[in-house]
Amino acid sequence: MIVNQEVAAETLEYIEEKSVSIKESLKRIFDKRKIDDVKIRAVVHAYVYETLKRKNIIDKLLNLALDKGKIDTIDPFTRNVLRVAVYEMKFKSVPPPLATDAAVRIVKNKSEKKAKLVNALLRKIEKIKIEDILKKYEKDEIKYLAYKYFHPEWFVEYVLKIFSKEEAVKLLKANNEEQRYYIRVNTLKISPENLIKRLEKEGVSLEETPLFDVFKVLDYKKPLTRLELYKKGFFVVQDLASSYVAHVLDPEPDETILDLASAPGSKASHIAQLMENKGKIIAVDISKSRMRRMKENMKILGVKNIEYVVADGAKFRYEEEVDKVLLDVPCSSTGTLRQFPCVKWKFNINKVKGIVKLQRKMLVNAYANLKPQGIAVYSTCSILFEENEENVDFASNFFSVQKIDRKIGTHGIKKFNGKYFKHWKRVVRTYPHLHDCTAFFIAKLKKV
Ligand SMILES: C[S@@+](CC[C@H](N)C(=O)[O-])C[C@H]1O[C@@H](n2cnc3c(N)ncnc32)[C@H](O)[C@@H]1O
Repeated sequence: MIVNQEVAAETLEYIEEKSVSIKESLKRIFDKRKIDDVKIRAVVHAYVYETLKRKNIIDKLLNLALDKGKIDTIDPFTRNVLRVAVYEMKFKSVPPPLATDAAVRIVKNKSEKKAKLVNALLRKIEKIKIEDILKKYEKDEIKYLAYKYFHPEWFVEYVLKIFSKEEAVKLLKANNEEQRYYIRVNTLKISPENLIKRLEKEGVSLEETPLFDVFKVLDYKKPLTRLELYKKGFFVVQDLASSYVAHVLDPEPDETILDLASAPGSKASHIAQLMENKGKIIAVDISKSRMRRMKENMKILGVKNIEYVVADGAKFRYEEEVDKVLLDVPCSSTGTLRQFPCVKWKFNINKVKGIVKLQRKMLVNAYANLKPQGIAVYSTCSILFEENEENVDFASNFFSVQKIDRKIGTHGIKKFNGKYFKHWKRVVRTYPHLHDCTAFFIAKLKKV
C-alpha cells in the first residue's frame, strides 16, 4: 500500500540530498515507485510543497523538542518523516495522535529504535504552541515575521527595506498562497479564441490578461499538463510576467534575435511565435542537458526558426551583429518563492555578488553582439535591487535605458540602501501580492 506521507518524506530527502528541483524530484520518485494515480500524486505533491514552504518553523519545533544536538543529526529519511508529521499536526489540522501514529509506523519498518525517538519527539511537539514561539520573538521584528510567514530572515530584512511593513507582509503572505497558473497560447498552432473554446470543453476556466496570448487559469478539472492540447503543444504553462518579456522585446518576423540564456526555451518559443516562425533566433545556453530538453520542447511546439548553441552567454559572439538580444539571465530566483519554496532555503544574500558579476558580463556581451540602434531586453525573476536596478545602472554606462510602455506591473525601485536609481520609471517590476504572478524585473536597453 502506498503511504502518502512516506512518499512525501522520501521526496523531501531526495530534494535535500541531490539538490534537485521539487518537480524533478517528485517525477523521479513517482517513476521509481511506479505511482501513476493522479490523486495520489496530487496529495504527495501538496505534502512536499506545504512542508517545504514552512521548513523554518517546522525545524524550529523539532529543535526545541530535541534535548541534544540539532535536527541535522537525525538521519535524512527520519528527519523528513518528522517534518511531514509536524506539518500535519500543526498546519493540516490532523489530530496529533494520528500524525504521530502514521510517522511511527513508517519509521518502524526501518528501525524500532528510531520509531521510539519519533514517537517521543512528536509527543513533545504536540505540546509546544507556535504562538508561544512567536511571542518570544515579539520584539525582534525580523525573526517574528520570518517564523510567522515562513521566510529566511535575510529575505524579511530585505523586503522591509523595499516596502513599508504592511506591504512587506502582503508580499510574504502572497508567497505562501497557492500557485497561480497562466497559459500562453501557441499561436503557431491555434488561435486564442479556438484554444479557449477547446479548453472550456475540458473544464478549464480562463480569464483574459492584458496580453492577448496569455490567460489566467481560474479553475480546472484535470492537471493542465495531462491534457492532450498541452501534450500536442497547443499551449504552454507560463507565468504572466515571464510571458511579458517577449512582448517587450517585440520581435519582427524578419529579424535576427540572440537569446543568451535560452533553455528551456519558454521565452524563445514565444519569440518564435511572435515572429511567425520566420527570421532567425540563435539560442545560447551553457547547459547541454537543458538545451537537449529545449530542442524536444521546440519540436512539440512546432518552432522551426532556432539555431541552438551550447556556449557561455558571457562570451559567445555571433557571426554577425544582431537586431535584438534577450538577456533572461541566470539569477537568484527570489521572485519565484511561491512556485519554488526550495529557493527560500537554498539561496543566501551572500551569494548575490557572484551572480551579479556574470549578469554584468552578459550585459557587456549583449552590447557587443548588437547592431547600432539594436535593442536588448534584460529580465530576471529576482526581487533583489543588485540584480535589477543596480545592474541597469551599470548597463546605462554604455546602453540607453528605454521607457517600457507598461501593460502589466509597476515601476522599478527608486532608492535602496541609500542608492538612487534614476531610471526607476522606465523599467518594470511585478510582484505576487500586486499582480498575482512571479516577481519579475524587465528593462529595455538600446545600443546608441
Ligand atoms: C532564467 S533561466 C533561462 C530561462 C529561459 N530564458 C526561458 O525562458 O525558458 C537561465 C538559464 O541560464 C543558463 N546559464 C547559466 N549560466 C550561463 C552562462 N554563463 N551562459 C549561458 N547560459 C547560462 C542556465 O542554464 C539557465 O538555462
